[in-house]
Amino acid sequence: MRATPTPDLMLEPAFDPAGSARDAIGASQAAVQGLNVRHGTILTLEDINVSFDGFKALNNLNLYIGVGELRCIIGPNGAGKTTLMDVITGKTRPDSGVAYFGETLDLTQMSEVEIAQSGIGRKFQKPTVFEALTVFENLELAQKTNKSVWASLRATLSSAQKERIDEVLHTIKLEAARNRQAGLLSHGQKQFLEIGMLLMQDPQLLLLDEPVAGMTDAETEFTAELFKSLARRHSLMVVEHDMGFVGSIADHVTVLHQGSVLAEGALEEVQTNERVIEVYLGR
Ligand SMILES: Nc1ncnc2c1ncn2[C@@H]1O[C@H](COP(=O)(O)OP(=O)(O)OP(=O)(O)O)[C@@H](O)[C@H]1O
Ligand SMILES: [Mg+2]
Repeated sequence: MRATPTPDLMLEPAFDPAGSARDAIGASQAAVQGLNVRHGTILTLEDINVSFDGFKALNNLNLYIGVGELRCIIGPNGAGKTTLMDVITGKTRPDSGVAYFGETLDLTQMSEVEIAQSGIGRKFQKPTVFEALTVFENLELAQKTNKSVWASLRATLSSAQKERIDEVLHTIKLEAARNRQAGLLSHGQKQFLEIGMLLMQDPQLLLLDEPVAGMTDAETEFTAELFKSLARRHSLMVVEHDMGFVGSIADHVTVLHQGSVLAEGALEEVQTNERVIEVYLGR
């Protein structure tokens, strides 16, 4: 029951009237409606290879993300973390390997637009909000995108749509700033707004690349709470260098090194792994 294609902004009108009622228990089941996740795995990557001019950015990479999981990906600069997200979102095509979203969606055969519409949302490091519009208008645009920007803003919102925006404003703690121009927000607030814009599309899998870079300690703490509250209803893959942050959110950490998985497990486990200490944490 995914929405019809909305080529303009690669988003979808995602308001779902049942949405607010499906927090907490059974959430991950509801969140993956329409996606076949029979075996509890939302993302499957097997033997993925990506080369750039002979340089192997991803090297026989294997990775599985469970439904509702909050996975952190760590690893030194150049390990292939961003390339991994590029493969999942269709920005980079692997030379070989298997990439499935749920049981049946072959990501290697889908366009970037199709992948976004199927329920994978990505946040880049730099916030990309519409600076001239208000916080509210940014969220409004994210939910109604099969029209031009101005047509969307002129169209009347249903009360259900307004409620959903209010709900997201509350989630990202920007209620008090709802009528503020997005360009006037702090760096951290812009990041939260962008996360809110992703949430308006209700993605099943969220990819977040270095979300707390440049944030204050208080903003970082709030981000940790936010991500923990999003897990279960959504699956999250978070790339981050900030180990304090990773320790505060991750159930499960994957360490990438030279394009392959070097170690996987609880943060304490991987932090005491000799090879990990050698290549990364002990630097
Ligand atoms: N489009 C490209 N063309 C050529 N080389 C690339 C390209 N994209 C990435 N690379 C190289 O692939 C390797 C992996 O890069 P990637 O950006 O995935 O690393 P990363 O783990 O995200 O690093 P960082 O922690 O610095 O963000 C790097 O050596 C990078 O220079
Ligand atoms: Mg990167």
